[in-house]
Amino acid sequence: MRVAAISAFGPPEVLRTAEAVEPYAGAGEVRIRVKAAGVQPFDCKARAGLIPFVKSAGFPLVPGNEFSGVVDQVGEGVDTFAEGDDVLGFGVLNGYAEYLTIPADQIVRKPDTMPWDIAAGLSGNGQGAHMALRELEVGPGDTVLINGAAGGLGTLAVQVAKAWGATTVIGTASKANHDYLRELGAVPVEYGVGLADRVRALAPDGVDAALDSAGGDGLRALAEVTKDRNRVLTMVDVDTAKELGLREWTPVRSAARLAELVDLYEAGRLTVHLRATYPLERAADAHRDVETGHGRGKVVLTIG
Ligand SMILES: NC(=O)c1ccc[n+]([C@@H]2O[C@H](COP(=O)([O-])OP(=O)(O)OC[C@H]3O[C@@H](n4cnc5c(N)ncnc54)[C@H](OP(=O)(O)O)[C@@H]3O)[C@@H](O)[C@H]2O)c1
Repeated sequence: MRVAAISAFGPPEVLRTAEAVEPYAGAGEVRIRVKAAGVQPFDCKARAGLIPFVKSAGFPLVPGNEFSGVVDQVGEGVDTFAEGDDVLGFGVLNGYAEYLTIPADQIVRKPDTMPWDIAAGLSGNGQGAHMALRELEVGPGDTVLINGAAGGLGTLAVQVAKAWGATTVIGTASKANHDYLRELGAVPVEYGVGLADRVRALAPDGVDAALDSAGGDGLRALAEVTKDRNRVLTMVDVDTAKELGLREWTPVRSAARLAELVDLYEAGRLTVHLRATYPLERAADAHRDVETGHGRGKVVLTIG
């Protein structure tokens, strides 16, 4: 089978297509014929050798922690899925491949109305946004601030916050992405120096909850304008969070959480905006795109 793999940690060009042996589903697992795989900043950090537990996984190493595809083998003891089921799911590695095996409790059914590329890009950012907003107890009446709102994570966080009843979602982005944020239902504001003042102009009493997907000075501004520091959460900047005394948390992904996101999609309350799709052969370009740190929505590899 074809994979995009690395044989050494390094810049995007170390990620190349290669041939690998097809895996077989073990007990409790299914094998997926992969149609598409999402590209996450996590994959780029794994490729660069910045994730300690990935460093010990050995080479060749195939990145990719979210995917969509068709179940084509069912391991012993699995009765929840059958060959031919269309699914989406999550893992840690091995998504950039024509086939992967995965525990059966890490996939959910894909609705016919959900395209393969959208399905591939839902889990990582969707579950990240869902976990963080649950942790922040976002609900009806809240004014929520999202830093990095136009990115893959932010795009979904804006929509999930609205779906859960937030009255106002203020999102930071560069000017070029402000119309995009308005389309998502957020009030746009530019990030950078003076952010706290710009947010106060929109929410004079401060915001109820704030989610950070960019870090640095933006996180300081979020802490400044949020009424209760216990309702400020960062996905990226643990050091600044510690320094500011913000809450710490441990994200846990689950099929139940992913299924809730699929339900929101089916109800027409959630869309995944694709920034770009690349064929498997251009996985390195997909990583370069994600590593720009700018853009709207999600980068996905099309595979099968
Ligand atoms: N722990 C988890 O479960 C989890 C899950 C998903 C993601 N994450 C993390 O969350 C982060 C974001 O992921 P992503 O997939 O959303 O990345 P992404 O798609 O690359 O998004 C980057 C976004 O950040 C914005 N941005 C750039 N510089 C900024 C700044 N100084 N202040 C505010 N916003 C800025 C950009 O907006 P403009 O284009 O307008 O400049 C862009 O839309 C990553 O570090 C990722 O590892 C964690």
